[in-house]
Amino acid sequence: MMGPSPNEKHPMLGFPQVCFIKNTVKNPNIQIGDYTYYDDPDDSENFERNVLYHFPFIGDKLIIGKFCAIARGVTFIMNGANHKLSGHSTYPFYIFGNGWEKTAPKPGELPYKGNTEIGNDVWIGYEAVIMPGVKIGDGAIISSKAVVVSDVPAYTVVGGNPAKEIKKRFSLETIDKLLNLRWWEWPIETITAHLDHISSGTPEALECLSNASPSLSPFEKH
Ligand SMILES: CC(C)(COP(=O)(O)OP(=O)(O)OC[C@H]1O[C@@H](n2cnc3c(N)ncnc32)[C@H](O)[C@@H]1OP(=O)(O)O)[C@@H](O)C(=O)NCCC(=O)NCCS
Repeated sequence: MMGPSPNEKHPMLGFPQVCFIKNTVKNPNIQIGDYTYYDDPDDSENFERNVLYHFPFIGDKLIIGKFCAIARGVTFIMNGANHKLSGHSTYPFYIFGNGWEKTAPKPGELPYKGNTEIGNDVWIGYEAVIMPGVKIGDGAIISSKAVVVSDVPAYTVVGGNPAKEIKKRFSLETIDKLLNLRWWEWPIETITAHLDHISSGTPEALECLSNASPSLSPFEKH
């Protein structure tokens, strides 16, 4: 038994509120890794409704890694949300035409923060809001209702509005080791064989993971 198939929409039998969303997202500007799920009793397949102001003519991407857990109501605000800030008014007159189109922003006048990138093994809590261009590192935790306006380092817990660091999940040495291991890229057989060690936070478990790692050379293991 190697766990659920990442190609199933609803991997939990009889519990459709959990969805592996790489199987339902259609927008080519949204990339989702294997095993990343969205949990919502109201249509968990339609994760795309939570990605707002995501216009194809802007071309920004939402990239989410593997093994992420995304709670109900998590919202990604993309670059199309931003109005021009430098004028005396932020009102977008030009979108209504009829002579107002002459105020259309020139290239570079609209704020653009780049792609939104979520790492691997990230847990995003209930109704968190992720603002345009934010990069969230592997293993981070985003508290419920956080408004994330700036990048979040790996294995860091953030919360509040604007989201600030609450704590690191592990010592910097342990975080470094986990980032080298990148267990989420291992073959699923190896992950399955070492679930106990991945799910435990003890130094002994980390040692076992380093020894098992297909991604570390023998020299790096010791
Ligand atoms: C972030 C979280 C994991 C922290 O859990 P924890 O480590 O047990 O945290 P604690 O309750 O000990 O709180 C630690 C600190 O974080 C703060 N904090 C906790 N949750 C917070 C939140 N949502 N927003 C802002 N601050 C928060 C606490 O006030 C506390 O601050 P202090 O140290 O100044 O007193 C948890 O609060 C959370 O938000 N979980 C998400 C739950 C969720 O949305 N699940 C959806 C289904 S998957």
